[in-house]
Amino acid sequence: MILVTGATGSIGKHLVQRLQELQAPFKALVRDAGKGRSLNCPYVVGDFDDSDSMAAAFVDVDQILLNGAGAAPTSDGGPQPMIAQQKAVIDTAGRVGVERIVKVSVWHARQGGKLAEGAHWDIEQHLKTSGIEWVLLQPSGFMQNFITGAFNDDGSLIAPATDAPVSYVDCYDIAASAAVLLTESLGAGRAFVLTGPEPLTMAEIAGHLSGVLDKPVKVIGLSREDMAVRLTAQGVPARFAADVADLWADVGTGSLAATTQEVKNLTGREPRTFAEFLTANRAAFR
Ligand SMILES: NC(=O)c1ccc[n+]([C@@H]2O[C@H](COP(=O)([O-])OP(=O)(O)OC[C@H]3O[C@@H](n4cnc5c(N)ncnc54)[C@H](OP(=O)(O)O)[C@@H]3O)[C@@H](O)[C@H]2O)c1
Repeated sequence: MILVTGATGSIGKHLVQRLQELQAPFKALVRDAGKGRSLNCPYVVGDFDDSDSMAAAFVDVDQILLNGAGAAPTSDGGPQPMIAQQKAVIDTAGRVGVERIVKVSVWHARQGGKLAEGAHWDIEQHLKTSGIEWVLLQPSGFMQNFITGAFNDDGSLIAPATDAPVSYVDCYDIAASAAVLLTESLGAGRAFVLTGPEPLTMAEIAGHLSGVLDKPVKVIGLSREDMAVRLTAQGVPARFAADVADLWADVGTGSLAATTQEVKNLTGREPRTFAEFLTANRAAFR
């Protein structure tokens, strides 16, 4: 049986649906039973921070989709909470005999990387030495970010000053790829960089959004320094703001511009374009 963690999240919701379509044996991990009921699938209540609840969740489980929250501000620039949480999940899984973990990571996960990039690298190393069979998903930026808060109060979008393109990927396609890896036991010991089909500049994204929202969407270019100032003015701790601004500057150099064929290789079809993503999620933008 598969345990889907992060089941209420941007990838998890699609993965739960896909596994149901495939009639694969699975249960969802949720922190809140009410959210579990609304998934309309078998679920178990547990929390990464409660190892007893995770051990109970692992009963009858041989594979896990490991996915949780992204980078969070810490008051003193201390370690990202996801590191201890996901390492603990891996340790508990190892103790109770889980055989395989498919982990959602991030593209460019690397030692010393800022925020999610460094945190996911740390977790990846822990998983690789756990003795559990592993597969890594390293996605580009999520198209879903444009649903969950990319807009300023005035409806404009911000972009790195150079407005370099990003090969945004729909979480629908990450989930479809994960479903193949989980149900066909493929990819052991491999990392898959998952991207959308096209690198898009923020101006191009804004053009698509203008059509859906039926009003012009402006793009405001921000330098690394302006980004950090903007975040600290919003109350974000200074160290976190500086790290976000550094990642932002990396994106401005085109670090997320390339595309890969991994979604197509795994699912047998092209990943969704941004226009297709908007059509599928039109209601979320109304
Ligand atoms: N956003 C991007 O562009 C991007 C790009 C590449 C990689 N990533 C990575 O993708 C992952 C998912 O990020 P996301 O922003 O899309 O988040 P998400 O999957 O939409 O939400 C996080 C999920 O984790 C669950 N969760 C949080 N804390 C938990 C805990 N203590 N115990 C059990 N479950 C917990 C949440 O459950 P609740 O419903 O209970 O809160 C929710 O289902 C992150 O690791 C991020 O670094 C993101």
